[in-house]
Amino acid sequence: MKLKETQSEGNILFVGIDLGTSRSSISASNGTRQWIESYVGWPKDFISLQVVGKPVLFGSEALKHRLSLDLCRPLEHGVIKEGIERNEEAVKEIIKYLIELAKPAAGQKIYAVVGVPADTLKVNKLAIRRAVSEFAHSLMVVSEPFAVAYGLSLLNNSLVIDIGAGTTDLCIMHGAIPSDEDQKTIVNAGDYIDEQLYSYLTEKYPNSKFNKNMVRQFKEKYSFVRDVPGDIHVEIPVDGKPVMHDIKNEVKRACESILPALVETTAEMIARFDPEFQIKIKNNIVLAGGGSLIRGLREYLQDALKEYGPCNVTNVQDPLFAGSDGAVKLAQDMPAKYWEPLQ
Ligand SMILES: Nc1ncnc2c1ncn2[C@@H]1O[C@H](COP(=O)(O)OP(=O)(O)OP(=O)(O)O)[C@@H](O)[C@H]1O
Ligand SMILES: [Mg+2]
Repeated sequence: MKLKETQSEGNILFVGIDLGTSRSSISASNGTRQWIESYVGWPKDFISLQVVGKPVLFGSEALKHRLSLDLCRPLEHGVIKEGIERNEEAVKEIIKYLIELAKPAAGQKIYAVVGVPADTLKVNKLAIRRAVSEFAHSLMVVSEPFAVAYGLSLLNNSLVIDIGAGTTDLCIMHGAIPSDEDQKTIVNAGDYIDEQLYSYLTEKYPNSKFNKNMVRQFKEKYSFVRDVPGDIHVEIPVDGKPVMHDIKNEVKRACESILPALVETTAEMIARFDPEFQIKIKNNIVLAGGGSLIRGLREYLQDALKEYGPCNVTNVQDPLFAGSDGAVKLAQDMPAKYWEPLQ
């Protein structure tokens, strides 16, 4: 029996949370949708506290005040970074803040479905349970691409590829809750592209002053694979003066650096199925996550996989909320036995 048939829905706020390396989002059954960059900062000392005026800051506000803060990006490669208690504390703060942003009514119970990268499900489960337990009454942890697939009703014969910052998560749906075998995580994703682009630009322009944050912004504005018309020039200071730099080749090389692993893993996952299912899955491949915005990527993947027969790759409409929207839909449909009570 479905949970919503057994409990009065008015007293429950269902939330879907996509806990991402770079961005975290929440979608709630009251219609709220919010996202923040996954940064948490605490004032370094009492002077910083006076300067920033808050005990904890999030997202772009934390980045803006980074010189006054102990800044923490708690998820790397999609795993809560181990060994440092502060990371777990930061995840807790992110969850608390996201739930506040969802504006639960007084006395409403929170039922949360949290999406994490496929491979790290087991590692993260306990840590996430600890992080969520103070703020929610019931919890279910699912893999990110499964949440995306559920949200898009892609329950059968499909492959979801979620290209995030820390990881690319692949998940094959074949009419049942996906098992470990149906899911795979690779670390060739947005952060990896940023590292490549940073090193190519440092090599080409050793006297220009730029940082990783600027490099990520260049990528997000101009990313492409194969070719796009026109030049790509950005302004970077040299000896204090703004100078235009040609970065087209470097952007292309950096974005293309994730392609071999992506194509190989996708082909490998599909090859496990018998030919009839292979054809169906190949005609139902969906790209999600911020990396799906790379121009030409969808076409590239479609052409690369066509070598082995017809293939159709599409992009999700809303990469920022596809995970949390799917997670909240899952929360609302979830039978009671799947929920883990926390309080
Ligand atoms: N237009 C764009 N072109 C290329 N990359 C982009 C673009 N927009 C955003 N990104 C990248 O997408 C990544 C963020 O995507 P997303 O929010 O799906 O990741 P995440 O959920 O935080 O990470 P993960 O799923 O690995 O935990 C970042 O690396 C970001 O730089
Ligand atoms: Mg993600």
